[in-house]
Amino acid sequence: MNEVLNTLNNHRSFRKYADKPVEPEKLRCIIEAAQAAPSWVNGQQVTVIAVQNKERRERFAALSGKQQHVADAPVFLVFCMDFYRTKLAAELEGQSFEAVGDADALLVGAVDVGIALESAVAAAESLGLGIIPIGGIRRNTESVIELLELPEYVFPVVGLCIGYPGEELPKKPRLPLEAVYHEERYNRNLEGSIRRYNAEFREYQKSVGQTERDWSAVIAHFYALNPQYGDAGKTLPQQGFTCSNLHKA
Ligand SMILES: Cc1cc2nc3c(=O)[nH]c(=O)nc-3n(C[C@H](O)[C@H](O)[C@H](O)COP(=O)(O)O)c2cc1C
Repeated sequence: MNEVLNTLNNHRSFRKYADKPVEPEKLRCIIEAAQAAPSWVNGQQVTVIAVQNKERRERFAALSGKQQHVADAPVFLVFCMDFYRTKLAAELEGQSFEAVGDADALLVGAVDVGIALESAVAAAESLGLGIIPIGGIRRNTESVIELLELPEYVFPVVGLCIGYPGEELPKKPRLPLEAVYHEERYNRNLEGSIRRYNAEFREYQKSVGQTERDWSAVIAHFYALNPQYGDAGKTLPQQGFTCSNLHKA
């Protein structure tokens, strides 16, 4: 292994943070790493907004579903998919701008954000910082859009808490490799892997003092309780992401 692989394989998400600021130079390194990520057609469809003001972090903690770590971590980054600059480029060139009506724009934006997010995560972790991504912002994107004053064609996809860890954590186990890596063709024979993972997941929960529940139960209940998560169904079209070519064949 090398240092990059060590950093990637040692990842854990922290929900407790030390009362210690993140040095501005480190924050800058993290943003530069995120910006160095590849992007679709070099369109660079990502904007990162840093929220460091304590009261505003508390607002984001509340609207992410009362997630205290969002208020406690000194830095909260919001990763937005961003086609506003794309629109400006079209205007500069006198071209029409319709790309955000295409369902593909959601894939482009979400992928670009995901890649930039993980680059930021790896950079932060390599600098001794702890992180946790926050999809909870998608519960209330209407408020997030307002608080961040996002223009049309910009949409908040995920937040990221960054700070010095305030606890020690074991690594959370993952599904067996064969469940997520297939060769040549998709392998639907996955039940055995899931059952083995359920057992390993329970061991992990026991080791950290959590109630033991099968992984399959946790996931099944989450999606049963949240057939629709958050308000993106309303706010995506408001921001211009109409997916107007989405239809059943
Ligand atoms: C896009 C994304 C959004 C997430 N949102 C939240 C969140 O809102 N709240 C939370 O507690 N954890 C959140 N997480 C963290 C996951 O729960 C965590 O990554 C997963 O349980 C695996 O644990 P680990 O990161 O410690 O290995 C999110 C992770 C990702 C990738």
